[in-house]
Amino acid sequence: MVTVNLKSLFNNEKILIDAIELEPCSLYEHIPVLNKNYVFELNVLNEILLFLAHPQHDCLYISGPSGCGKTTIMLQIASRLNWPVEQITLSNKSESIDLIGHATLRKGELVFEYGPLTRAMMYGEILILNEIDLMSPGDLSVLNDVLEGKPLTILANNGEIIHPHPQFRVVATANTKGFGDMTGFYNGARLLNQAFLDRFRYLEMSYPKANVECLMIKQAYPNLDDALISNLVRFANELRQVVNMGLENGVRQLSAPFSTRTLLKIAGIAALDLNLTMHKIISMTFALRLPKVEFEYVMRLCNDVFGHEKEVLANTSKNNLNDSIKVQDEMYVKDDKDTTAKGKKTRKVKKTNENLEIELSA
Ligand SMILES: Nc1ncnc2c1ncn2[C@@H]1O[C@H](COP(=O)(O)OP(=O)(O)OP(=O)(O)O)[C@@H](O)[C@H]1O
Ligand SMILES: [Mg+2]
Repeated sequence: MVTVNLKSLFNNEKILIDAIELEPCSLYEHIPVLNKNYVFELNVLNEILLFLAHPQHDCLYISGPSGCGKTTIMLQIASRLNWPVEQITLSNKSESIDLIGHATLRKGELVFEYGPLTRAMMYGEILILNEIDLMSPGDLSVLNDVLEGKPLTILANNGEIIHPHPQFRVVATANTKGFGDMTGFYNGARLLNQAFLDRFRYLEMSYPKANVECLMIKQAYPNLDDALISNLVRFANELRQVVNMGLENGVRQLSAPFSTRTLLKIAGIAALDLNLTMHKIISMTFALRLPKVEFEYVMRLCNDVFGHEKEVLANTSKNNLNDSIKVQDEMYVKDDKDTTAKGKKTRKVKKTNENLEIELSA
């Protein structure tokens, strides 16, 4: 056994649990890739470490809006602890055999292939069940016993009994808490069975605080200007406030949440330094998915936070991507006409997936 000192591992004296004892890991390929730029929020980190170190015959259910970092925080903690992970994203088509395993033909022989739940139980891994609220409660009930630390009986493999490894943990993530979607954003979320939910402890995540998101962007894209980063996070939080107000008064004002995922996408494109306005980047990464009225509202907010687009455009020439596409289209049409009308030059116009290639021959 290896004793991992959590305070020094996470470089923070306020970590609640001092140390955790873990078996040295040999399943290297199941250890998630480390993201050195990941920024931890102390409260969330403490709750997850408490669960990992001291499960009480229970599992962890992390709920929160899309793209707030539920899956990633589990992967980043596991990566630092060298704790192997089995991860599966569930859907309304997922069945219990997807978790437990199934018989399959290999070299003419019928063999039983273990699923992620069984492997996690055997090898002491963290099983991450993403989007658990999309799977049918009937199929999920097969987990009821193992969630409490009991063995798994695999009827399809001659009643094989799998005893849980002491390091086996289950973490579920979802956008709802299992009583349906109250926001209208998460189509397909189901009502989960309360007996199933009773086997979990709960952690509710929301979008990270402004200072955490600023740090996150700065770590990932150090070339971005500090003022731009703080404006971007201010912009994100204004939109989130509009979403929350809509949810509180029951009148939806924005049809999509503004996630940390979107925020990082915007920052990533801005960091490419292509002289695109923030309006253009926000429009292609977020605003264009909204109905027209909401799109216009988001663009007005862009003007307020990042300056009026026309003024910003005056300082740069690379913003109107539509224009450059038009130029290519025009060339394409013109060359076609030339070939038929004048017939003097043979012009071959070749359309490829990536771009338009025009070949000229005299
Ligand atoms: N604290 C953080 N530090 C760095 N990056 C983060 C952090 N939190 C989230 N991210 C990034 O935000 C993105 C979204 O995170 P993630 O996929 O974990 O969200 P989620 O809550 O699981 O979303 P969904 O509900 O859609 O599954 C990822 O690209 C992740 O790397
Ligand atoms: Mg997720």
